[in-house]
Amino acid sequence: MPLPGPVSKNPHQLVALFAVPPGQSMEVSVGKATVIYAVNGTEILLPCTFSSCIGFEDLRFWWTYNNSDSPIIEGTVKNEKSDPKVTLKENDRITLEGTTKEKKNNISILLRDLQFSDGGRYTCHVKNPKENNLEHNATIILQVVDELEEVDNTVTLIILAVVGGVIGLLILIMLLKKLITFILKKTQEKKKECLVSSSGNDNTENGLPGSKAEEKPPTKV
Ligand SMILES: *[C@@H]1O[C@H](CO)[C@@H](O)[C@H](O)[C@H]1NC(C)=O
Ligand SMILES: *[C@@H]1O[C@H](CO)[C@@H](O)[C@H](O)[C@H]1NC(C)=O
Ligand SMILES: *[C@@H]1O[C@H](CO)[C@@H](O)[C@H](O)[C@H]1NC(C)=O
Ligand SMILES: *[C@@H]1O[C@H](CO)[C@@H](O)[C@H](O)[C@H]1NC(C)=O
Repeated sequence: MPLPGPVSKNPHQLVALFAVPPGQSMEVSVGKATVIYAVNGTEILLPCTFSSCIGFEDLRFWWTYNNSDSPIIEGTVKNEKSDPKVTLKENDRITLEGTTKEKKNNISILLRDLQFSDGGRYTCHVKNPKENNLEHNATIILQVVDELEEVDNTVTLIILAVVGGVIGLLILIMLLKKLITFILKKTQEKKKECLVSSSGNDNTENGLPGSKAEEKPPTKV
């Protein structure tokens, strides 16, 4: 297929196309985790996505196992608007899960009914004809285990419990402080009221100070 009109007509753009450094024009990613753990007998999604700033056409993708040359699954993607098509599959337990629609560019695979022998290096490859057929890849390591270790969870739970306990204790202390000051205030107010009323009683005989004592209660209440 010839290059789209505007590109082939403009020689400067064509030069720019091949001048793009490979690392920046296309990227393949398997996510943040380089090692994923899965329990035997279950299924696991091996993630892989790619991004291309110059776009792609008739892109070829494939997955390899343990640096072997023969792919375990292989396919093509016509363009950004079409879903990937599987052209070769070595194993019935592997299915392509991704989609390229809506710019997802997702070529993840699902491994079903995991066996211990499935553990190893899985590499996701992408070759973009629009990019001088350069190949890009990303590798994820799968470890099939008896059961997922709960150690990390327990540690997290302990930390959460401690932090939660400390926060709870602080809140309790603050509430207690509030309650105690409230009670103290109330008892002090009562004492003051008693004092005021008693002094008021005392001052009724003295005239002037008594009128002051009568003014105080409304501001307190
Ligand atoms: C996973 O392997 C363990 C140990 O070999 C076994 O006991 C268990 O039944 C297996 N689980 C499944 C789902 O096959
Ligand atoms: C890729 O597709 C799979 C299956 O639909 C999904 O579980 C996964 O989250 C997708 N990954 C990304 C990065 O979108
Ligand atoms: C693939 O590599 C892993 C370790 O990286 C190894 O345990 C496993 O046996 C290898 N599988 C095959 C089929 O060579
Ligand atoms: C991944 O790509 C790099 C650079 O293109 C290449 O050297 C390496 O051999 C590739 N890895 C695999 C497993 O094909």
